[in-house]
Amino acid sequence: MWKGRFTQPTSELVQAYGQSVSFDWRLYQQDIRGSIAHSRGLQRAGILTAEEQAQIQQGLESIATDIAAGRFEWQRSLEDVHMNIESELTRRIGAVGAKLHTARSRNDQVATDVRLYTREAVARLIAGARQLQRALVEAAQRAGEALIPGYTHLQRGQPVLFAHHLLAYVEMLERDAQRFAQAAQRLNVMPLGSGALAGSTIVLDRAAVAADLGFADITHNSMDAVSDRDFVAEVLFVISLCGVHLSRLSEDVILWCSAEFGFVTLSDAHTTGSSLMPQKKNPDVAELTRGKSGRLIGNLVSVLTLLKGLPMTYNRDLQEDKEPLFDSIDSLEAALAVVAEMIAGMELCAARAAAAAADPMLLATDLADYLVLRGVPFRQAHEVIGKLVAHCVSQGQALNAVDLSTLRGFSEAFGPEVGEVLNLQRALKARQAVGAPSPQGVAAELARWQQILS
Ligand code: ARG
Repeated sequence: MWKGRFTQPTSELVQAYGQSVSFDWRLYQQDIRGSIAHSRGLQRAGILTAEEQAQIQQGLESIATDIAAGRFEWQRSLEDVHMNIESELTRRIGAVGAKLHTARSRNDQVATDVRLYTREAVARLIAGARQLQRALVEAAQRAGEALIPGYTHLQRGQPVLFAHHLLAYVEMLERDAQRFAQAAQRLNVMPLGSGALAGSTIVLDRAAVAADLGFADITHNSMDAVSDRDFVAEVLFVISLCGVHLSRLSEDVILWCSAEFGFVTLSDAHTTGSSLMPQKKNPDVAELTRGKSGRLIGNLVSVLTLLKGLPMTYNRDLQEDKEPLFDSIDSLEAALAVVAEMIAGMELCAARAAAAAADPMLLATDLADYLVLRGVPFRQAHEVIGKLVAHCVSQGQALNAVDLSTLRGFSEAFGPEVGEVLNLQRALKARQAVGAPSPQGVAAELARWQQILS
């Protein structure tokens, strides 16, 4: 490609070391689309005749067809996807192919290709997040008014509807989808026309090329445009955070399906057995998802570290952005799909969950609230109930089994209606604030999500 300056061929080791075609081949559709738009730009600028542009376009389209059909032979000696395609174009259509790279560098070309690729990938990730949200909303619906203990510090705290717990993840995924959409807006800007770093003396109508490629805008600084990978880092961050959310969901599922919790069972299709212990049913999907989230964070850190020491403008280091980007996109796309399936196949063990949620200690806070409504300042009420709990623990007595005269020994404010406070259904119903887990509140949230996701 650049024979002119060189008298020796590239060393075999350098070829193997520097080639990117083994992974950047997957930019071929974006590369060809970009080249077709660029050829139209060259035609508009009078560099190509209409006939030449048509020849280039047909040549590129035939290459795309062959690549898609697996009939294309990628050559590592041609380094990357861009030079493989360009060289094949010239082989197919002759000298006119050699005009395509006018007013273009691989630097603005690769920046454009990766933006196009990422734009499409982000749309798929948003769809994947939506699919998982739907699976969670359906699971929440199936759970009805089933209760589980809600935890802080992994200690039983207060009872909640199981549906409320599942909808917490729907909220997280909604923020992820929003972040993806916002990142997509920021990256939807075309670098083509920035050349190697300083544009070109052959001036194309960049806005027209951008419109051709569906970009909302064009970049305004050629030096920034060829070296900017902020969008890669940003998308890798959003992917990492979404991966962290899936990891937390996985951790909950892993706990829930243990014998110790026993709140859910996973379907056979989403679990595996042990090669040694015949009784085992392992939540591998959840474990792998928790594990893969580490890789996603690693990819983000790789790219940030890659960028931080680079002088302006393009440096070959930037070639190292692709493997982490592709790996994170693939991993999250797969994780969203498989976790959605796992959630769809997850069954609540209502009896076990109900038994755990019926632990009267979970209503200790309600008992303190009761004293507050009877005029006791909250801090005092908290202390009274704390002492009462300690009494129950030392006596091995349930909180709802203490008789009124004993209660009144702890506080004069206890009255005969205290029994109702320890009624689980009543306690849930009383949590009326927006965002709290009363059955009506959760039903309203379910309806809201169904509307959003329909
Ligand atoms: N494969 C290269 C990359 O991904 C393409 C750009 C090469 N540019 C250059 N000046 N060597 O970064």
